[in-house]
Amino acid sequence: MLKISNVETFYGKIQALRGVNIDINKGEIVSLIGSNGAGKSTLLMTISGVNKARTGEIIFEGKNIEKYEPHNIVDLGIAQAPEGRRIFSRLTVEENLKLGAHANERGKHFNSDIKEIYDLFPVLSDRKSQRGGTLSGGEQQMLAIGRALMNRPKVLLLDEPSLGIAPKLVNQIFLAIKNINKEKKVTIFLVEQNAKKALELADRAYVLVNGKVTIQGFGQDLLKNQDIQAAYLEGGAKS
Ligand SMILES: Nc1ncnc2c1ncn2[C@@H]1O[C@H](COP(=O)(O)OP(=O)(O)OP(=O)(O)O)[C@@H](O)[C@H]1O
Ligand SMILES: [Mg+2]
Repeated sequence: MLKISNVETFYGKIQALRGVNIDINKGEIVSLIGSNGAGKSTLLMTISGVNKARTGEIIFEGKNIEKYEPHNIVDLGIAQAPEGRRIFSRLTVEENLKLGAHANERGKHFNSDIKEIYDLFPVLSDRKSQRGGTLSGGEQQMLAIGRALMNRPKVLLLDEPSLGIAPKLVNQIFLAIKNINKEKKVTIFLVEQNAKKALELADRAYVLVNGKVTIQGFGQDLLKNQDIQAAYLEGGAKS
């Protein structure tokens, strides 16, 4: 469904991605793990068209999209809940969700879509008139995911949804991600530093080191992989 081939992305002279190859099949949950600065967010921003690949191809449902503008990529069916959430803090929860559904075609479904998001995250319904900036970190993350879902994506890109969030809410968010995949049939590409959770949830996963994929495989196999255990799982600091 989404094929990333030999993608290289630069910030000026700094090369952040060094020939990344990743395949995502329809219906899968694919996780990407890696340390700070590995290039995970750069890859998601490159898929979303915010950063442009200098070389390589990104093919979505048979179309080359690496030169598309971000709004065209959203229109094709790829939405992102970015790292750090980036919700509108002065707007209410419901206004934030409304902004997700920007195009007319999708706007028609606003009421039923918003109800589905409130079913998925009931706390957002309780707080629909509250300003985004006054939500807790975990609630803001739910809102960011909800806003991305308002675009009715075929593929949802999630950048570190567990970052800085209490364990109880992290579990809720991971359950919701599973539900979005299984019930709403949305393909998921999940970037995480919480390697244990990300591998447990994933059908398949990739490890990114210094802008390159070093290991790939089934999530369950990577959980048992000794190199991954040593680098990302032992000590329990991130589990
Ligand atoms: N706007 C930018 N200008 C210059 N360099 C950047 C910029 N954004 C990211 N980089 C560099 O690109 C590399 C990859 O950064 P990126 O944000 O993609 O990493 P990451 O894997 O998402 O890390 P983290 O887990 O900390 O979010 C880093 O070396 C970073 O310093
Ligand atoms: Mg990042």
